[in-house]
Amino acid sequence: MRTGSIAGQHQHDMMIDVSHDELAYQQFVQTYLAEMNGRLLQGMKPIVDAEGTPGTIKQVTDQRRRYLKHPYGQMWSSLRRIGREFTCEAVGPSVERQLPELIEKARKYRGSNRKIGSLQLDPSVKAPRYNTEIEIHCKPGGYHTELTEDDVFAGAEYDRTTYLNTSGRLGPLQDMLGKDVAHWIKRMYPDLKPKRILEMGCTIGQSTIGWADAFPDAEIHAIDVAAPCLRYGHARAEALGRRIHFSQQDAEKTSFPDNHFDIVTSHAMIHETATQALHNIFAESLRILKPGGVMAHNDGAPFRDLTPLGRVVPDWDTHYNAEPFITKMRGSDLAEWAFAAGWPKGSVRSAYTSETSAASKGNQIGGAGYVIVGRK
Ligand SMILES: C[S@@+](CC[C@H](N)C(=O)[O-])C[C@H]1O[C@@H](n2cnc3c(N)ncnc32)[C@H](O)[C@@H]1O
Repeated sequence: MRTGSIAGQHQHDMMIDVSHDELAYQQFVQTYLAEMNGRLLQGMKPIVDAEGTPGTIKQVTDQRRRYLKHPYGQMWSSLRRIGREFTCEAVGPSVERQLPELIEKARKYRGSNRKIGSLQLDPSVKAPRYNTEIEIHCKPGGYHTELTEDDVFAGAEYDRTTYLNTSGRLGPLQDMLGKDVAHWIKRMYPDLKPKRILEMGCTIGQSTIGWADAFPDAEIHAIDVAAPCLRYGHARAEALGRRIHFSQQDAEKTSFPDNHFDIVTSHAMIHETATQALHNIFAESLRILKPGGVMAHNDGAPFRDLTPLGRVVPDWDTHYNAEPFITKMRGSDLAEWAFAAGWPKGSVRSAYTSETSAASKGNQIGGAGYVIVGRK
């Protein structure tokens, strides 16, 4: 029996269909993860509460070592790891069952003479080592692995697993991060009338849709290194009637000319890149922006802004969820990294896009509301 989609998620043409039993498992995982990040995380409060400021990497590391000696900390950590493994396990079989149909649909969108956006794949672009040497957030094969010709598996799986991980808080189309930053930029830079916008590390173009809707007159580009996600993302955008130009490119060194974009952005990408890579991404953003253009990289808030409890999940993800760069990123002053990459002193700062995001410090859903922003 086919029962359609999980409550609240938009059922577009590329979305997997799920059987009764698959849906039950996915709903269980969604509830389990919400409990882990909610009530069960709150149970860690008495163990970490005394830690206070300043949120240095050493302090966060010591905090983790201490809570892992406590029986409650050990229980929470083990249960969270199991939850992360459940996520892809609950979604993978639904995707695998429908993979031939999904691949065929994606091919049709690509070949259609009614398509509105575009997709350019470049097999010479290789996923960097910092993506391939780990199975990022316990996602088997990561974003880039191709199991078959014209594969879309990693993308189709990501569409549903993101929804489960975030309990739907990114909205029915999961475009909230893009929407949030795009509207903030409109308010902050009313003189900026962008003609061309780039999202780096777009995966399946969820946030990109937020940008396309906020700036309907702009040409919207989205790049990623992962072909299976780009194929799925392109077909998804076409199914949803959004004009987005996807291409397979490395954000550290794109093929775009100098002074090309009015806005260069990313969402939840920079915590997945190594230190030197992020340096290169800041430099590349500067190169491809027009004078007066705006860079806005959106990710999780720095430890210095978080409560001790707020630091637990991002640091835990670094060590037990195969996202090895988070703690270093959250423990560093990224504006300083941008200056070291060539941005003039004083031209880059960090900001929160709303009072709500400033209050929640963006630690719950991988970066809501926090941006590293610079104007060229
Ligand atoms: C967490 S996902 C981003 C989610 C997406 N931006 C969204 O808002 O839905 C991180 C993405 O960054 C991509 N990525 C990592 N390093 C990259 C690089 N050097 N160039 C392009 N994409 C990269 C990964 O392939 C992955 O798809």
